[in-house]
Amino acid sequence: MSKIIIANFKMNGTRHFINKWFSKFLEETNTLNKIIVALPTPYLASFSDCNISIAAQNVSSFDSGSFTSQVSAEMLKDCDIDYCIIGHSESRNLLNETNEDIFEKYNQLSKNLIKPIICVGEPMNVREGNQTSSFITDQLNFFSSKEEDVIIAYEPIWAIGSGLIPAVSDINEVCELIKSLVTNAKILYGGSVNEKNAFHLMNNSNIDGLLVGGASLDPKEFANIAQL
Ligand code: PGA
Repeated sequence: MSKIIIANFKMNGTRHFINKWFSKFLEETNTLNKIIVALPTPYLASFSDCNISIAAQNVSSFDSGSFTSQVSAEMLKDCDIDYCIIGHSESRNLLNETNEDIFEKYNQLSKNLIKPIICVGEPMNVREGNQTSSFITDQLNFFSSKEEDVIIAYEPIWAIGSGLIPAVSDINEVCELIKSLVTNAKILYGGSVNEKNAFHLMNNSNIDGLLVGGASLDPKEFANIAQL
């Protein structure tokens, strides 16, 4: 079964870098997996008509109005963007986003027919305190009655950019929990994915794909991950 592999560029890249990245990636890749690239906002419109699906990295929870710096779901749709990450731990922390805000963002995306990629994940103190299940359950509370095809990325905060990866049993436990909370969810794993550890993650039948940050900036490494 084909998987969903997402590159999250975060706040990295220039127009030149992204152009070169796409040429190199397309040259290196031949895969049936679904590839999505989450670009910084200024580049979304210029790359929306390339052969690969493009995702925004966040969206406003409001329709329009006096929200300087924010981008609405309607604007993303107008720029032909089909996917959008919401609830990434970096946005939750930097912008003090609550679970309720993230549900409002989800509603904005649904209204504009943009597919949400909802990120959840616990910090280390929560894992050490054996509170991971209730933490993730709270994060998905608003989504629990949804039966649409949503993509949920499990990204333990302590695994992001740290080189650490949870034990397989811990990943499986969270995947089972997510499946029990949100019917039909596609579940991705994210956090320190690279070409060395991607193989065993891709072979885990509980995982429908990967969300790759740092390692995605190297088009060859991302291509190696994308075609596993
Ligand atoms: P990382 O980031 O792969 O660099 O850990 C993943 C993410 O934050 O989406």
